[in-house]
This record gives sequence, C-alpha cells and structure tokens, in this order.
Amino acid sequence: MAEFAWDILEPEEGRYEFGLFDETIAAFGAKGIRTILCTPTAAPPRWLTAKYPEVLREDENGRRLFHGSRQHASHFSPVFREFSRRITRAMAEHFAGNPQVIGWQTDNEFHCHFSEDHSPAAARAFICFLESKYATIDALNCAWGTAFWAQTYRAFAEIETPRAHRPTWSNPAQELDYRRFLSDGVVAFQREQVGILRTANPRWWITHNGFFKNIDYAGAFAEDLDFLGYDSYPFFDLDPARRMRSQAFNLDHARSYGGNLLILEQQSGPGGQGHYLHDTPEPGEMRRMVWSSIARGADGILLFRERSCRFGAEQYWCGVLDHDNIPRRRYREAAQIGAELARVGARLLGTSVEVDIGIATGDFDAQHGHHPISHGLPCPKQSAETIHGYFFSRGHAVGCIHPSSPLDGVKVFFIPHMAVLNPAYVANWTGWVQAGGTLVIGARTATRNLENNVHGQTPPGPLRELAGVEVLEYGRQNRPDRRPLPMVMETDRSQIPTDRWYEALAPAEGTEIVATWGARHLRSLAAITLRRLGRGQVLYVGTWLDDPVLASLHSVLQSLGKAADPVSHHPEVEQVQRSGPGGSFRFFINHAETEIHLPLACGGLELLSDQPVLHSVKLEPNGVAIVEQRTPCCLKNQ
Ligand code: GAL
Repeated sequence: MAEFAWDILEPEEGRYEFGLFDETIAAFGAKGIRTILCTPTAAPPRWLTAKYPEVLREDENGRRLFHGSRQHASHFSPVFREFSRRITRAMAEHFAGNPQVIGWQTDNEFHCHFSEDHSPAAARAFICFLESKYATIDALNCAWGTAFWAQTYRAFAEIETPRAHRPTWSNPAQELDYRRFLSDGVVAFQREQVGILRTANPRWWITHNGFFKNIDYAGAFAEDLDFLGYDSYPFFDLDPARRMRSQAFNLDHARSYGGNLLILEQQSGPGGQGHYLHDTPEPGEMRRMVWSSIARGADGILLFRERSCRFGAEQYWCGVLDHDNIPRRRYREAAQIGAELARVGARLLGTSVEVDIGIATGDFDAQHGHHPISHGLPCPKQSAETIHGYFFSRGHAVGCIHPSSPLDGVKVFFIPHMAVLNPAYVANWTGWVQAGGTLVIGARTATRNLENNVHGQTPPGPLRELAGVEVLEYGRQNRPDRRPLPMVMETDRSQIPTDRWYEALAPAEGTEIVATWGARHLRSLAAITLRRLGRGQVLYVGTWLDDPVLASLHSVLQSLGKAADPVSHHPEVEQVQRSGPGGSFRFFINHAETEIHLPLACGGLELLSDQPVLHSVKLEPNGVAIVEQRTPCCLKNQ
C-alpha cells in the first residue's frame, strides 16, 4: 500500500496526513491481513515538481520529462533526494509502532519505464562518480581509450553523459560506465530509504520489486535488502504457446539475483493500457501461474490487484474483482489459491529449486557492455533464454545462476556469449570443474575487459587456460544461406548447420576436438573442443548456441553422463523440484487445455489433495499436483 500515494500522504509540502492509511491498515488488521507499505517515491506529487522543476529527469536528447505519469524525478537530484528522505522518515516514524505493518517495498519497479538520466543533476553526479572511480583524468582517458576520435579530456568537468544526439556511435567504455553510474544512483537512493526504515523499526523486512535495465541487482542493491522481489506478468507474452517457456525463464532469471523471491505483483486479470490488452486468464490460469511462481522459487505471492481501478492510465489493469466490485470467477479462484496456500504453504518454506543445468545470467557488465557494441548479435540474456528454452522444453531441471554464485549440485553450466567477462569468476569455475562440473563456453566469451575494450590476449583471454583453447580467427556469419558453414561432429560425422558467428579454434595439448568445420577456408579446423580437468570437463563452442548446435551439445553431454533425458516428461507439463531440510517436493503443472495422465517414476503424497499417488498423476487442464518425494531414489529420478 501507498506506493503511489505521495499526494495523499503529503498533500502539500511538509504537511503529512496518515489517517486514511491508519484506518485502512486497522480495517485489514481486524480481518487478519497485515500490511506491506511502500515508499511513494515513484510518483512525486505536482506541488513538488511545480515548485522544484529541477528534480525532473532529462532524456538522452536533453528533453526534460514532464509531470503527468510516473518515474519522472531524478535519483541524482539533491532536492528530490531530500524530499525522498523526508517522506520516508515521516512514514517510518508514524508507522514504526503499528504492529500490523510487517515490511516495506522501496519505491516501485525502479527503471521499469525509463532508465536514463541526463539532467543537470545527473551530469554533475556523473562527473563525481568518474572522479571517485578514476582519481586522475589520465586514468580515465586510458580506460576509455579516448585517443580514438580525439576524445581526450583535460579535466573531469569536461565530461558529459552519453546523449543520443551525436552523428554516430559513442564510446563503448563511456557507455558502460554511464550505466554503472545509473545503477549506483538507484542503489544510493534506495540505501537512504532503507537506512531510515531500519532505524525506525529494525523488525521490518525490506524488499523491492525488480528487475529492469541499468541496475545491478546482484551487488549492493540486494545486500541492502532482506530479499528481492519480482512482479510476474506472464501474459505479457501474447503467444499462449510460448507462455509456459517464457514464464519459466523470467522466473528463473529473477531468482538468479538472490535466490527465493517474494512476488509482489502476480498477474490475476488481463493487463492493458495504451495500445495493448493481454488475453484474459481463463479459469484455472491464475492459479496455475501462482503455482508456477512458487514452484520456481517464490516464497510469497501478492496478486495484482484486488480491485480494478476505474480511472487513470491503468484502468484496464484488471484484478481479482472487476470494475463493479462484484466477486466472480477470479475472486473464487483467488479464494481457492488462498485456501491451498494456507494448507500446504508452510511445508514448502525452507526449500529451494533444484537445478542440474545452470545458465549464467544477471551479470551487469556482460549484459550492459553488450549493447553499445553488439554487432547485431543476441545479448547474453537472449542467448540464455534460447539455451533455457532448449532444455526446459525437454523436461530438464534447467535454471539461471549468477556467475558469481557457487555451483554446488549443478552438473552443467553454460556461459552464454558473455563478451565482457569478469576474470574474478574463473577461479571458482576452475574448482567446480575439477570437482566434476561441465562448463560450456559460448563463442566470443571473455573477449572484452571490464572497461568494455578488446583484450590484448588471444581469445578467450582469461578463459584460455581453463578452456585449453585459442581462437585463431573469428567472423560474423551474416548470410549463412549464401555461405553455409556446417560443423562436422567427430563422433558420427553428422553435419550441423551454424549461424551468426564462427571461430576457428586451436586446441592446446591434451584438449580434444569434438567438432570441426566442414566448409570454406575453415575446413578441418576445430569448431568445438573439450578439455578434461580433474573430474570435470570444459567444452568451448566456436559458434552461436542456437538450437541445432545445442542439440549436438546435448548428445555430447549425454555421452559424458550429463543431461540424461528425464524418465517422465510431457511437453506441456512443467516439472520442478523444490527441496530442503523439510522435504523434497515435485511440482507437476499442466499448461495444456486437456487432461493429462503422467506416469511417475515413483509416487508419494500429493499435497493439494492430501492423497497418495502411486504410478501416475492425473492433471486436469491447468491442473497442479505437488508430490512429496519420500524415498531417496525418487529425489532425482523422475
Ligand atoms: C507493474 C507496476 C504496477 C502496475 C502494474 C501494471 O509493473 O509495478 O504499478 O503498473 O505493473 O502495469
């Protein structure tokens, strides 16, 4: 509550009114519903922007944003920061003694609509950010390679934020630093609010609903919070045939930043504004989406939203109740979800999602370093989604893992073409491979340094030793239909089409060749290599990880005893296992419009019906079953 209510809480500068919220919190409390409050800073009121227009952000063309929607104020404006601290302090002190208030969401979806800032306040802050990062202008000139195109700066004061209105491409090192600066601004802005809230009441937990551009959620942002939150709107994917897959990826990607999540907004009705309106969730779909979120790591869910608003830009973002507030099928479905969670929720707490095949996601530098110099190739997140989709649709326990996270229990870990790669990760990966892990590195990885400049070392730079390979030559495949470049697998001489990119590889001594190139000047040169190290292996793939290449890698992984196809799989049934000290629970979620009977490798107690299931599980359309896995043989054996 209160995330967009600044004008009610502070109707004019310095005059605070909390009566409406006191009453509402008490009314909910009387019904056993406790409150999460939000700092209202995503929508500063008109009195503030009218009197202090300097708080408004500016876009990349130097145009000041007007009042009239939301997210219009600059996190770098000292004036806005002061108002943010004041309203946060006023709310924190007022509600500190209210036992019904259990926690807070900071702001709302930082950067969800607009993530840049070129206002004068941001420009000044950018200079301070650079001064504290580089200390001397020479160090900055060297890191940014400003000798190119005569960009050398004589003083920090000469530097501008990278605006759009220039004849052509900008400096990729400057671009990446600018995005880090934007992220730091959000972290600092949030940190002030968090500090005020924690001082007022240390019992409160604090979270935020992400995940958007130009914010590094994995570092200081997450450390300042108790846990991360996410807003899940699977119907943004307008293709119902893709939704199961995109929803799974988005939830897994969200979880990669900090483990289990709170879903602060879970789609409950059709959402729409401006030019779009989602499909309306059909009977059972809201419940199905909720259970998918829980299966994939949510420890709590709030439906967006209870009532559909009759006015404003989001009047068609429909919730559990329609505009007339008459309870209909969505209300009954929400009540069913509530009853089920009340019955089984506690069993699931303390468990986490099991992942066999991990994909590196969430790395700020790799993702944001890609865009200024992408060569029209998919970004690491898009590549991760392709890999995830390949294994997800074959029923594997695939998930996303931040590259700085430990890889215990993970069998295979994919690096999806992270051209900018932090060399600090390499030591962990080496230890994990030695202990039995299989690392799969996509082409182009580790070719640029953290400044977003090309490495002087032969690619894959800091990964050369671990991968046991060097890249002799690389190139973009722009028209593989005109110049096809198949790979030839060593095992069976099968030819695999490749797309987007090629690399001719030189394996080091002891590194094996898994595939060679089968055409043009590359014929017979290595295309995929394998280095054995300790009990594990490193596969280096000299082309893009698209479906045909993933299929051939899948066979290689199977021959290594990794990524065996699951025993019981149906293409329209999502299966996930959550395990922890309290037990191990396998979720079966039917995304089909028909009833499905799925054979089980082993049965157990089905939690929602409280009935044992033995050899098969019956799933109605949109149906869900959660089977407690009791015997060790079940635990990884479906
Ligand atoms: C979320 C946002 C909500 C509301 C909802 C529907 O992204 O946090 O405030 O805007 O989407 O658009």
